[in-house]
Amino acid sequence: MNYSHKTATSIYIHIPFCATKCYYCAFNTYTFHKEQAKAYLQALRTEIALYAPETEPLQTIFIGGGTPSILSANALGQLFTDIHQHFRITSDTEITVECNPGTVDTEKLRIMRDNGVNRLSFGLQAMQDETLKQLGRIHSVAEFLESYHLARDGGFENINIDLIFALPEQTMEMWHDTLNGVIALAPDHISAYNLVMEEATPFYESWQAGELHLPTEDTEADMFQYTIETLTMHGYEHYEICNFAKPDRHARHNLVYWNNQPCIGLGVGAWGYINGVRYSNIRGIAPYIKQLSDRNKPVADSERLTGHAEKAETLMLALRKREGISVEAYQDRFGEEIEVVFGSILKKWMDLGLLERTATHLHLTLRGLFLANEVFVELM
Ligand SMILES: C[S@@+](CC[C@H](N)C(=O)[O-])C[C@H]1O[C@@H](n2cnc3c(N)ncnc32)[C@H](O)[C@@H]1O
Ligand code: SF4
Repeated sequence: MNYSHKTATSIYIHIPFCATKCYYCAFNTYTFHKEQAKAYLQALRTEIALYAPETEPLQTIFIGGGTPSILSANALGQLFTDIHQHFRITSDTEITVECNPGTVDTEKLRIMRDNGVNRLSFGLQAMQDETLKQLGRIHSVAEFLESYHLARDGGFENINIDLIFALPEQTMEMWHDTLNGVIALAPDHISAYNLVMEEATPFYESWQAGELHLPTEDTEADMFQYTIETLTMHGYEHYEICNFAKPDRHARHNLVYWNNQPCIGLGVGAWGYINGVRYSNIRGIAPYIKQLSDRNKPVADSERLTGHAEKAETLMLALRKREGISVEAYQDRFGEEIEVVFGSILKKWMDLGLLERTATHLHLTLRGLFLANEVFVELM
């Protein structure tokens, strides 16, 4: 494991459009309008050119959102032409596109395949139509199945499905049904997130008003435990807090984040990390387009990560992985022993049963993983 790449060989591209906004979602997304999307893609094309050329072939590309699959087949084709024109892509480059059920068709899938896309990620969230409605999703379970099978028939051999647990009104039995329904489809990767109540979402407001009935913390812990046991039993490796993969199907792009390696972030509100500088792009579509029409990088904030901040961030991100942080890789990156720098906090977590040490790694225990967000606060 290597935490010390200096040259970015990964890119994230943000497509900020969705058919409608789901009630729980706080991602930087806007309702899709064809003309606005056209202008946005034109600006994105300029941004892609500003960050090119990169000399090394890309390891991973992640086109996320929002809903990239809401773009027309033509627009998707143009986006890939721009990417291929400016970056070196090989047959080994992992190229993922996030898709919403109900927004893919044979033509879009063919264009993605022809352009080297080799991984799709579908947001399903739950296997009950009632729940999907309650979440503000645009699709039914049947529409998800149709999209999933279309993708399989279209030759996609590496597919992820996103799920959310601890949803309002969700019982253990409903979560069992969702998880087992998904396992029956044998996707290559499953992301199972517990619901985060994000501020400025309709869910948050209903919750504040006492109108959302959430499972208790004990039920949430049981759901997490059940997820780990069930998916492990079915041959999925639990390799990050919320992520499970069939052998050799780990999300290579996400591993770039968890290993705190560089990544070029493109698109409105996107984050990047290049040459030790973490930056975020302008969040509004109009100012993003304006900035690029003047051929300026649309960066809103940037900060050089050095010293303790870089070390703490590297530790925190690597501890999200089930294997934890490699003691040797940490030493290679920072030239000092992790136990010298973080000795007292690591000891405290070990004493509390949140962290364990193997010969090569420090990793969170299951209890530590469940409490990860609270644990990490101590590092900030
Ligand atoms: C960036 S979203 C895009 C996925 C795609 N647009 C879709 O919804 O089908 C990736 C995933 O984040 C998860 N997610 C979004 N908001 C969440 C929240 N508040 N709590 C937990 N998971 C969330 C969902 O599982 C979603 O599929
Ligand atoms: S969950 Fe996906 S589809 Fe729903 S608003 Fe967020 S990004 Fe859009």
